Amino acid sequence: MKTKPTLALSDEQTQRFKEQGYLQLENISPPEEVEFLKSVYDRLFAEKAGRRQGAYFDAVSIDEDDNKPHTSPQILDPVLFAPELKETVFRANGLAIAKQLLGSKAYGSFEHAILKPPGIGAPTPWHQDEAFRLDYAPGYDEISIWMPLQPVDTTSGCMEFLPGSHRQPVLRHASPGNDPRIHALACVDDFDQTKAVACPLPAGGCTIHHTRTLHHTGPNISPNPRRAYILAFALPVKPDYKFARPFPWNLEKQTASEQRKRDWRKRGGFAVEFVRKIQKKVTKLTHDA
Ligand code: NI
Repeated sequence: MKTKPTLALSDEQTQRFKEQGYLQLENISPPEEVEFLKSVYDRLFAEKAGRRQGAYFDAVSIDEDDNKPHTSPQILDPVLFAPELKETVFRANGLAIAKQLLGSKAYGSFEHAILKPPGIGAPTPWHQDEAFRLDYAPGYDEISIWMPLQPVDTTSGCMEFLPGSHRQPVLRHASPGNDPRIHALACVDDFDQTKAVACPLPAGGCTIHHTRTLHHTGPNISPNPRRAYILAFALPVKPDYKFARPFPWNLEKQTASEQRKRDWRKRGGFAVEFVRKIQKKVTKLTHDA
């Protein structure tokens, strides 16, 4: 990418990430960029961008009714629906940080946008991101950089982490209420929630967490929308199919968004997906360069 990074982690920050499994920064994207992102973001959610192809969904409901208010709507890979998101200081800084934390082969693996509407934004259950993985690979290494587009605190759903939890294996997860139609996952193993650390942030600040770090966000009971934009970066790995066993909680999932994705593929979406895969490979090679 053309945009250059504007920051680097100190040795102390890198060390803290290794020990705690997360990190907090006050500024990863400049104020004018955050304003620009907010306008893109609000347009994408107003349009429900990607709804027909399974990219837009409500993470905490059965997500079949378009007329009911969604309390945790998300858009996977929003950059596909807004190419102007490709060149941002946020992305340049994110990639630079990922290379510091993971190594020079780190590349942008995934991104998503999450909106918690004012007053009704639902909490996100405690989980480890790795529990969502379908293509499990032992030693999978990925980080997520979570940036709010307005200030966040515990009344609007800021991130909360369990320090050091990235050193555990993937714990047992289940669909909320054991309903496999719901996209979200909730950790059902025991852990000490009293050790959780909340991370309030200014707009354009961020938290960075490892894919295995336990985290959650509370509800948004504030009068403002809570917008978060997340970039994930990973190291390339070859899934080890000999040892790979899909997580049972993922095998039973039957979400409406997956069905919409399958229907879209049948209507020709598979060709669009193929082109996107090639483009992603090209981007990955550019990142490596
Ligand atoms: Ni998560």
